[in-house]
Amino acid sequence: MTAERSVLPGRFSGLSIKLIATIIAVILLVEVVVYLPSLASFRANWLDDRLRVGVVAARVLDAVPDVMALPRELTDRLLTSAGANAIVYRRQGQSQLIELASPVRPDLVVTADMRQADLMTLILGAIDVLFATPDRTLRIVGQGDLDDSLVELLMSERPLRQDMLAYSRQIGIVSLAIAAVTAVALYLLASYLFIYPVRRLTQNMLAFRQAPENASLIITPSPRRDEIGIVERELAAMESDLFSMLRQRRHLADLGLAVAKINHDLRNTLTSAQLLSDQVATLDDPKVQRLAPRLVTTLDKAIGFAQSVLDYGRETAAPPVMAPVAMAALVDDAAFEARLVGHPTITLANHTPETLVLNVDAAQLGRVLLNLLKNAREALEAASVAAPAVSVTVAEDADTITLSVSDNGPGLPPRARANLFVAFEGSARAGGTGLGLAIAREITEAHGGRLLLADQPQGTRFDLILPAALRVQP
Ligand SMILES: Nc1ncnc2c1ncn2[C@@H]1O[C@H](COP(=O)(O)OP(=O)(O)OP(=O)(O)O)[C@@H](O)[C@H]1O
Ligand SMILES: [Mg+2]
Repeated sequence: MTAERSVLPGRFSGLSIKLIATIIAVILLVEVVVYLPSLASFRANWLDDRLRVGVVAARVLDAVPDVMALPRELTDRLLTSAGANAIVYRRQGQSQLIELASPVRPDLVVTADMRQADLMTLILGAIDVLFATPDRTLRIVGQGDLDDSLVELLMSERPLRQDMLAYSRQIGIVSLAIAAVTAVALYLLASYLFIYPVRRLTQNMLAFRQAPENASLIITPSPRRDEIGIVERELAAMESDLFSMLRQRRHLADLGLAVAKINHDLRNTLTSAQLLSDQVATLDDPKVQRLAPRLVTTLDKAIGFAQSVLDYGRETAAPPVMAPVAMAALVDDAAFEARLVGHPTITLANHTPETLVLNVDAAQLGRVLLNLLKNAREALEAASVAAPAVSVTVAEDADTITLSVSDNGPGLPPRARANLFVAFEGSARAGGTGLGLAIAREITEAHGGRLLLADQPQGTRFDLILPAALRVQP
């Protein structure tokens, strides 16, 4: 378990705030996409309205032969009704102009040609108005009511700009209101469906991790049938598994401690008994002479058993300390300790290449080889095999280095096969503790490797598979 502890984020700082922010951002983005065309059409309508008044005025101009003859009052009223400074009417190469009594001479004229009304031009025109300097003069050009006539209006752009700004403000307020209402609605929905249950799960996990031996912290799953429901049920199952596993482990650890204590005392008592038995063996009585060796070996066995149980408790805790080790020599040493070197009947063949050097814990890996070789010797000694032999071979590929320890003995008895690698369970041999293979596997796995029993019809072969990364390059 890692020591650091996660803290549940506040109501508005975790998942929920991200959700609200995303919803609002998406809605505002959509609003902008909708806003631009609608602003463009607002401007187009506005300009069209002005143009229509201009067209009516133009019809008056068309009706009179001489515009100059019209009374000033009338032309001024025409112009004011269109909101224009000047109206130009062109037809068949001729043009007529009326303008206000005191016309302002424009220096910055921008033209809005209503005969060109595609969406892109309208949108660009609208954006241009919004960001323009306020004092421009607008020239609206459009079709008159007769086929080849053309009407032009000149006016200040300011009223158009003000109307467009007011319209934009309205749209902005409405958009924000829509975004806020939608975000709140979606947030409430998501909270109910998603955020609240996830917070409950998170809270439960944090609490349970702090005190996994407290069964009341195991989550009560809701009857939901969706993914969250599955997560809740799975979490509940996992937590109760963990709870019982921890409890079991604690009991085992307590038991182990007790066994170690008893074992320790037992070994000491046995050692005293051994000293006594050694003295008894020196007595001259023929009966004693007959029984003493059996007593000595029985005591030896018992002490060996007690010792290996003690060792198991001690050694499995230490992580391996890696250093370069010549494997051929390590195998030779292990074979010597396993009393295979110079054995009267068993022949030993160590095929490990002299050049193979691995980064391993020599003492621990030596123990693995010793256990495998000792098992092979014990199996061969117990069975009557013609030409008993033990061999160690090495196979290498890109990812792994495999050391195989094989013998031509009787193979594994079914009892040993069923509990292979299980401490205290695997032994099928009189006087065996059933620890050898369990320890060997543990050490191998601590080195990042695997210990496997090879499947073969004759004899026994154990494969000690180590990662190639352990190889030391010469
Ligand atoms: N090479 C082998 N051939 C036949 N049987 C084997 C071989 N290696 C192991 N076994 C069987 O597997 C059992 C378990 O082996 P393991 O080394 O774990 O325990 P053990 O040898 O009984 O006791 P320990 O090694 O702790 O003294 C042995 O009792 C033996 O029956
Ligand atoms: Mg053994």
